[in-house]
Amino acid sequence: MSGKTIWFTGLSGSGKSTLSNALKEILSEKGHPAVLLDGDVLRKGLNRDLGFTASDRAENIRRAGEVAKLLNDIGHIVLAAFITPLESIRKAVRSLFDSDKFVEIYLECPLTVCESRDPKGLYALARRGLVKEFTGVSAPFQDPESPDFCVDTDRNDLGQAINLVLKFLELRFPELGKLYTPRSPKKHQTRKVAVIGLDCAPPRIVFDESNGLNNIRSLMKSGVWGTLRSTDPPITIPAWTTITTGRDPGELGLYGFRNRLTREDYAMVTVNSSNVACPRVWDQIENHEKRSILVGIPQTFPAAPHYGLTISGFPALENSPDFSYPRGLINDLACMASESYLADVKDFRSIPKKQLEDSLYSMVDTRFHVVRELLRKEPWDFFMMVEIATDRLQHAFWDTYENIEPGGQNQARHKNVIPDFYRYLDMKIGEILETMDDETTVFIVSDHGAKSSSGGICVNEWLMRKGLLTLKQKPVTEASLSVDDIDWDRTYVWSEGGYYARIFMNVKGREPKGIIEPSDYESFRNKLKDQLVLMRDLSDEVISNLVLKPEDLYREVNGIAPDLIVYFDGLSKRSLGNVGVKDIVVKGQKDGLDACNHHHDGIFVASRLSDMRHGVKLDMRLNEASCCDITPTILAEFGIEIPEGLVGRVLPIGGEYLVSKGSPSKEGATGLVNDYDQEGRGFTPEEEAIVKKRLSDLGYI
Ligand code: ADX
Repeated sequence: MSGKTIWFTGLSGSGKSTLSNALKEILSEKGHPAVLLDGDVLRKGLNRDLGFTASDRAENIRRAGEVAKLLNDIGHIVLAAFITPLESIRKAVRSLFDSDKFVEIYLECPLTVCESRDPKGLYALARRGLVKEFTGVSAPFQDPESPDFCVDTDRNDLGQAINLVLKFLELRFPELGKLYTPRSPKKHQTRKVAVIGLDCAPPRIVFDESNGLNNIRSLMKSGVWGTLRSTDPPITIPAWTTITTGRDPGELGLYGFRNRLTREDYAMVTVNSSNVACPRVWDQIENHEKRSILVGIPQTFPAAPHYGLTISGFPALENSPDFSYPRGLINDLACMASESYLADVKDFRSIPKKQLEDSLYSMVDTRFHVVRELLRKEPWDFFMMVEIATDRLQHAFWDTYENIEPGGQNQARHKNVIPDFYRYLDMKIGEILETMDDETTVFIVSDHGAKSSSGGICVNEWLMRKGLLTLKQKPVTEASLSVDDIDWDRTYVWSEGGYYARIFMNVKGREPKGIIEPSDYESFRNKLKDQLVLMRDLSDEVISNLVLKPEDLYREVNGIAPDLIVYFDGLSKRSLGNVGVKDIVVKGQKDGLDACNHHHDGIFVASRLSDMRHGVKLDMRLNEASCCDITPTILAEFGIEIPEGLVGRVLPIGGEYLVSKGSPSKEGATGLVNDYDQEGRGFTPEEEAIVKKRLSDLGYI
């Protein structure tokens, strides 16, 4: 049979080599002798005298074309992978061949995507001027005028691109026979995805082999794993909501557990499930008639009706009928578990540490018992749970683990509390994995990590002393700041405490009693930013505060974003909202402080259970994953089309090609709406008060 030449053109990084390599294997398997001619390879030998001027490129392609022709003449199929940047060069090479022996396939992929892949690091060098005449950067790439076929390698992953090309070749060259039978049917066919979330789980605990987390390690060995970059801010809400939507906090309009709903009001309201204005990952999965079981996922209270079951997660009220969906599920739960089921541990700050530790074990026990029962008895395609106990444990015991202030007997006593707890959780995870079949892909994910905390900054007190915030009455004792206490006619700025500070400016015409002229907004904000950056600690050293503007962090800024976001001492210090305090800088762990703050590095591990059970050794470490990648990766694992506008990438669970996804969406999610009034589904004022108290006890406010 006479040979053919399949000529791939496209930018560096568009996937020419990857795709033609894969096709070479497939064609060879089908009995068609195939040869790969690759620009990078030829330029090291046959064409090593050529550079990247237009004429050298033309000569490079001419020689490659001649070689391809010779190989065709002895019956080989040639897969040629060259940028071939100019239309004149493409025409010239085509003219070497009979028209029934040559096809030009354009691998279309935006420059920004190729550049973000940058597999050889050449784009980065080209941008710095260290590689000259680089295609797309400092040398032209003309879009092909009349390619025989075009594949978008941004929107299609490698498997899809292969199938598209095979289908095309089958039509164009019928003499090659049937090409498009999916390649040696994959052993694994994902029918189910299970996501086990561990709130606040940091890489240093989960990936430390000596901690003996054997079940998680088995998943790592057969799959992919690495740090998962959290959101800004790196806190439970919005991070889990980003994980479950693929939208960043700005797009979601969610900047914390509590948010301002309108500019009309200075006060904040606790988030609830109806504040998520875009589809969650399970909504998209359920559209394909797949059923979900959701347990403990933050911001799922009140539990909304859907195709599946929900036990809602923090912040949630266990006694509310909307704690679960369907409502009756809560009664079944009560029967299933020996201890009552808790969304979160109670009285976190006030109970003795030993009691807290016992409560955390008991909460986990009940949750995993319930989960095991649900997984055994209920049909499901998508399962996701989040265990919040890890976060609470670390906030209480992190100093004993990191041993930042060694010596205390108490600390020595608690030294193993964190690793022991993780080992116990790992065992529980092992038990639920046993209920899952081989066709399940399992993710272990955390929303952020942990780092030691060296105290806090009383941000509102600092604002008061700068004359930027004035209260109606000077506080006599230390107290939390209520917006009702503020004298708005004499207040420029106020802040929310929590793990990070949200700074709001009181702008005329924007806030109800605003006093900053809109024309002064930017200069005021910049000056304030500088002051925050230059803040000094007790020994007059500058604290390394990171001060950010929301529009620099997010693709869109929806809802009511703070005017500035502050990470005190790079998140080593908490933001404390209290007023009436003696010192602005609080050292150590006084009442109201935590043993740890949040770190941007969380974790993810993903493996197919068939791979784990059949001894596959992939053990691939990925370093660049972020919370935004989880939703597209789950959808891709089910083979469900990824919605336009998600910025995240599909992580290569089985080691596949890393695909970057689309461009920023201008549509996306909208901001918050107070759905309680509209639909009666948010927190009632009484519930709001209970939740607020709990959040405050936990240190979120
Ligand atoms: S072509 O333009 O003549 O078709 P060819 O496909 O052979 O290029 O080689 C491109 C490869 O050479 C790129 O994938 C990249 O690895 C490397 N390369 C080095 N310098 C350049 C440059 N200035 N422009 C493009 N590619 C370059």
